[in-house]
Amino acid sequence: MHQLPLFAQLLLLVPFVSGQCSDSTVTNIDMSNRGITEIDELLFSNCNPQAISIDLSGNQITHINATSFASYDAGLSQKYISLFYQLKTLNLNDNQIKSINPDAFKYTTVLDTLNMRNNQLRSLESDVFEPIGDTLVTLVMSNNEIESIGESMFGTNLKRLRHVDLSYNKMTYMEAWPYIPPSIIKFDLSHNNVNEFTNRLNWTYNLQEPYHTFVDLRYNQFTIWDDQWLKRYQKPGGDFVGDFVTLQADITNNNWTCDCQMHYMASKIQKSFYRYAKSELSNVKCSNPPNLRGQRILTVDLNEFNCDVANCSFGCTCTNISETKILQVDCMNGNLIKLPMELPNIPNRTIMLDVSNNNIWKIDPRPYVDQLVKFNAANNKLVFIDQETVKNMTQSNLSMNISNNNLKFLPNSIQNIKYISISDNPFMCDCNMTWMKGWLELDSIVEPDKSITCKTKEGDVHKIIDVTESLLDCNYDTEIGLAVGFGILLILVVIGIVWAKRCPYETKVLVFKFFRIHPSDKYKIDDEVKSYDAYISFDDENIHIRQWVIRKLKKRLEEKKQELFIPVIHATLGDDRADQIVRSMENSKRVIIILSDKYDENEWSVFECQQAEMLNPNEGRIIFIKYHPEAEDMVQKEPWKSRVKDRKVLAIGEKSSEHQWFWDKLKYELPVK
Ligand SMILES: *[C@@H]1O[C@H](CO)[C@@H](O)[C@H](O)[C@H]1NC(C)=O
Ligand SMILES: *[C@@H]1O[C@H](CO)[C@@H](O)[C@H](O)[C@H]1NC(C)=O
Ligand SMILES: *[C@@H]1O[C@H](CO)[C@@H](O)[C@H](O)[C@H]1NC(C)=O
Ligand SMILES: *[C@@H]1O[C@H](CO)[C@@H](O)[C@H](O)[C@H]1NC(C)=O
Ligand SMILES: *[C@@H]1O[C@H](CO)[C@@H](O)[C@H](O)[C@H]1NC(C)=O
Ligand SMILES: *[C@@H]1O[C@H](CO)[C@@H](O)[C@H](O)[C@H]1NC(C)=O
Ligand SMILES: *[C@@H]1O[C@H](CO)[C@@H](O)[C@H](O)[C@H]1NC(C)=O
Ligand SMILES: *[C@@H]1O[C@H](CO)[C@@H](O)[C@H](O)[C@H]1NC(C)=O
Ligand SMILES: *[C@@H]1O[C@H](CO)[C@@H](O)[C@H](O)[C@H]1NC(C)=O
Ligand SMILES: *[C@@H]1O[C@H](CO)[C@@H](O)[C@H](O)[C@H]1NC(C)=O
Repeated sequence: MHQLPLFAQLLLLVPFVSGQCSDSTVTNIDMSNRGITEIDELLFSNCNPQAISIDLSGNQITHINATSFASYDAGLSQKYISLFYQLKTLNLNDNQIKSINPDAFKYTTVLDTLNMRNNQLRSLESDVFEPIGDTLVTLVMSNNEIESIGESMFGTNLKRLRHVDLSYNKMTYMEAWPYIPPSIIKFDLSHNNVNEFTNRLNWTYNLQEPYHTFVDLRYNQFTIWDDQWLKRYQKPGGDFVGDFVTLQADITNNNWTCDCQMHYMASKIQKSFYRYAKSELSNVKCSNPPNLRGQRILTVDLNEFNCDVANCSFGCTCTNISETKILQVDCMNGNLIKLPMELPNIPNRTIMLDVSNNNIWKIDPRPYVDQLVKFNAANNKLVFIDQETVKNMTQSNLSMNISNNNLKFLPNSIQNIKYISISDNPFMCDCNMTWMKGWLELDSIVEPDKSITCKTKEGDVHKIIDVTESLLDCNYDTEIGLAVGFGILLILVVIGIVWAKRCPYETKVLVFKFFRIHPSDKYKIDDEVKSYDAYISFDDENIHIRQWVIRKLKKRLEEKKQELFIPVIHATLGDDRADQIVRSMENSKRVIIILSDKYDENEWSVFECQQAEMLNPNEGRIIFIKYHPEAEDMVQKEPWKSRVKDRKVLAIGEKSSEHQWFWDKLKYELPVK
């Protein structure tokens, strides 16, 4: 210690240049308002190294260098050493400081108060106060132009920091800074441009830590609240409004907009004990919308925390009502001729739609009808309401007003709507609206709807509640309808019976065709084992008949799995033909003889015919097909007349309908497959 006076005396020997200390024993150095521009060793040349405070306010200092408070020891250590190793208070208010070197406070290691009010700082870099973290208590940086602060500026290493004044700066965001240094009691960020809380530090609210901090955020640029701000600080499952109360941030004196975004917080505060907690939150007032200006969010009716919703349907205004979770759509007097096609889709919102006093003429499908809880379409030109659309109006508490329209009928699905107004419509009395009587009798229907009237085609007016089917003679119509129905059925049955009587054969053919039922006249021969189902006898010299047999008959019958013996195809040449005819015919269940004009002239045909005759008694084994119209004449005369007697004679027929019948009859006659 005895060296120090010596050191001071040495300094005194140096001619006074820029050193400003006139008395080297003073411990509270006052260098205010001296036109100083630079802080360096020279400035402090005659000063007491034991000084505990230095006042440099009101000068023109522009920066603080790394060695501003140090002196270079060219001798022993060859290092910079601290000029004032007991300096506790440094006042740099009212200068023009633009920058602070990151090491500026390296040589003022016991500084506890730093005043830098009214300078020109634009930013504060992280870690600049690290060297004085063990001692710094008060930091005043108000009235600068600070718009950014290093993320880790305020960390746990600032162990004693209690007061931070950053008021009157240009900060636009608020980090969780006040909550990290262990002992901050006041953090003043008032009169800045803050409009949001951020969490770049990923800080989470920890209830274990006591927050003594009071954070002043008054007079900032906050307007629209955002629940997400505090949710970001929150651990999952926490209650951010509760957290916010303990964070002790004063957000009053901001121009808050009390809208749907603030509803959650407001309802939390209003509905819970926070209402009585001593919190600045309870003094937060609304600035917007104008009708709520000056009201405290604690007292504003929760139904007022609403937002106008952009992009509402043309001619309408949409309001997001948070308290009731309703989207209110107002389209009154909008000159609409139809319902809005779409409405803004807000999750979990029901809709109150007012389209009264327009020119809408129908209620038809819309995607939002299932969300409607209130639907006012009174005073329009409605003539039609779609049954299915009403079915889709599924909100149980829906109230609907379709009074004063041009409705003649209502869809009966409208009965499911709980509260309804239907008066002042020109309803018609008709048999399809008698359901309305039972409906209007319900207790939920009140005057004037209970006594609404309808008019018949004849012009009679009835109270709908009195309109029954018998009043309108509706039952008569249904009786007639039933009678007519039964009548037609009876006639059809009679026609069927007559037909079956007159044409029993055709009836059997049809029954077989459609129901595969073969009536009892089945032939005994069908039980025997035979190689062929049918032997086809025809005039094979006639090229037309040959073609018809091979191309058509064969094809049609083989489709039905009938095995045919056709002499021109199956008889082997050279063998005795007569013998083959006899054997094959005996081995066939049926013989089909195709009668044509020259049948008689073909010797083989004649032979086949004789052989067929000899299969008597053949019980329907022989089937005749009249191929040519001439065959008709043939069967009228002997010998054919007696040959065809009691046998099936089919005609091919000219018309397509007869063809159809022909094949059905032929299939009926052949063995059942
Ligand atoms: C202090 O720093 C400024 C810029 O940061 C520089 O212009 C000036 O020369 C420095 N002064 C001393 C004494 O180092
Ligand atoms: C915070 O979290 C984000 C995303 O998880 C990450 O990108 C960022 O680096 C974190 N910041 C800090 C300071 O840890
Ligand atoms: C709030 O709005 C009023 C009027 O627009 C304005 O005078 C005042 O400065 C604003 N307050 C804040 C803190 O922005
Ligand atoms: C409103 O509609 C316009 C144009 O369709 C679109 O650009 C805008 O993002 C919409 N606004 C909202 C809030 O949906
Ligand atoms: C509607 O209000 C809720 C809060 O109740 C909000 O979260 C939502 O963003 C709002 N939607 C619109 C489109 O305003
Ligand atoms: C809608 O409500 C359901 C149940 O009430 C809820 O689980 C869901 O998160 C809500 N959705 C939104 C977007 O709010
Ligand atoms: C009724 O709602 C269903 C399901 O949302 C939809 O598929 C159907 O098209 C709607 N019908 C009408 C007539 O709107
Ligand atoms: C249903 O609507 C009536 C009036 O329209 C209202 O008094 C009642 O509270 C509503 N009920 C529910 C569950 O929304
Ligand atoms: C329905 O609308 C008519 C016409 O605007 C009105 O007179 C009537 O009071 C409304 N009904 C209900 C239940 O609000
Ligand atoms: C009831 O019948 C009339 C004709 O008598 C018809 O115009 C009207 O659409 C029908 N209404 C309903 C709901 O079926």
